[in-house]
Amino acid sequence: MLTENLTEAERQYYYMEQCRQWVEKQVKELGRPLTASVVTFGCQMNARDSEKLTGILEKIGYEMIDSENADFVIYNTCTVRENANLRVYGRLGQMKQIKKKNPSMLIALCGCMMQEPEVVEKLKKSYRHVDLIFGTHNIFKFAELIYRRLTENQMVIDIWKDTEQIVEDLPNDRKYAFKTGVNIMYGCNNFCSYCIVPYVRGRERSRQPEDIIREIENAVADGVVEVMLLGQNVNSYGKNLETPVSFAELLRRICRIPGLLRIRFMTSHPKDLSDELIQVMAEEPKICRHLHLPLQSGSTKILQKMNRKYTKEDYLLLVDKLRAACPDISLTTDIIVGFPGETEEDFLETMDVVRKVGYDSAYTFIYSKRTGTPAAVMENQVSEAEVKDRFNRLLEEVQTIASRVCSRHEGTVQEVLVEEINRQDKRLVTGRLSNNTVVHFEGDVSMIGKLIPVRLTSCKNFYYMGEPENFTKN
Ligand code: SAH
Ligand code: SF4
Ligand code: F3S
Repeated sequence: MLTENLTEAERQYYYMEQCRQWVEKQVKELGRPLTASVVTFGCQMNARDSEKLTGILEKIGYEMIDSENADFVIYNTCTVRENANLRVYGRLGQMKQIKKKNPSMLIALCGCMMQEPEVVEKLKKSYRHVDLIFGTHNIFKFAELIYRRLTENQMVIDIWKDTEQIVEDLPNDRKYAFKTGVNIMYGCNNFCSYCIVPYVRGRERSRQPEDIIREIENAVADGVVEVMLLGQNVNSYGKNLETPVSFAELLRRICRIPGLLRIRFMTSHPKDLSDELIQVMAEEPKICRHLHLPLQSGSTKILQKMNRKYTKEDYLLLVDKLRAACPDISLTTDIIVGFPGETEEDFLETMDVVRKVGYDSAYTFIYSKRTGTPAAVMENQVSEAEVKDRFNRLLEEVQTIASRVCSRHEGTVQEVLVEEINRQDKRLVTGRLSNNTVVHFEGDVSMIGKLIPVRLTSCKNFYYMGEPENFTKN
């Protein structure tokens, strides 16, 4: 069969079929199913990509399992901080032994770490037991690359520097039946000076609104009630489309999809958060009462060196506007401690913002030097001891504030979207409020994927125990 005249998706389905025939043959010979495992590091983008990898592996005929003792193991990697890389090398080292016992197993690597040439060099030299390496731009070629590995019988490496291409309509397997992530854009143009993401994920590309809506409508038809719209900076969605569409407008259109109950999104860069978006959030009940608004630092001097393009005052003003429009909104954030040149005074500015905003939760990170980024060569890298001390002080403050903030809805009745049976106590179910806080209450499987009104009886630092009110609705 010639593949030249096909769409990209059709080409990939052709390769899936070729691989499926190979798997079928193996299954017959071995007299057992072939198993596969997808191991994901990093952010929600990677988690979503992993659902696509899983969808393709299932289509090929692999049986998905949770253990790395599988016939096909793929690591979807992250490189945002150095320890993410170290974890991957650690796992790969262990896989060498496992592969010795099962020489026909295949090991693949993809994701952000593979976009760094020095990583691929290291793998080629010291990790010869890896079979397949590809990057973030050509993940849609997964089936074709597996096929190449099977036919060429040697390590296959295919990394693209960047791409304009967005391939729609490939298989994907959702981790949860009732909620899913939906990419609305890829890449990032912001080049925050500490961050490697723009280098490994390429330039910003928005999907067409029609494609996004169609994907969500199909998901809703399959039983999905909550979507998380994904992008490194969702607030700049649509600016580069032929017919520009703002993120606020996209949200309005998504809100009109019947059957969809909740809409979340991340991440919002403070510099691009528009008044129009705040207004839509205030008007549309389907949009969750939660905004993840990364601060990174509370010091205007450090923010400038980070290339974040807002000041401490801009950020606090934005928080005021959000609270005025949506008084019950939960705010969460990301903070980096120990950026080059950060003094005790700068750090205290960060603590000041943390106190003034009162975050529901904050992800705190120790600055990690990423080769190739402007910050890596900045002077005055902060000493490890100082960073640790600041980090611990910040963490304590964040946790104290979070437990206080979290309890503000105690005693009220709120809708909980039930996600699963509680892992510790099977009589309980676990779900989330619109503001993303976790709630446990008595219930059963029939509640999963439904919105249930629950009285929030007591707050335990970061989550609630509740009691269902006696009516249910879909
Ligand atoms: N696009 C998102 C962030 C993606 S990375 C945004 O702009 O908010 C997730 C978080 O990792 C960032 O918000 C930042 O806090 C952290 N991070 C990124 N690079 C880092 C580095 N070099 N060291 C420590 N933390 C980093
Ligand atoms: Fe990194 Fe900044 Fe882009 Fe976020 S907006 S991915 S922190 S460069
Ligand atoms: Fe990591 Fe890539 Fe996400 S570097 S944080 S997985 S975009």
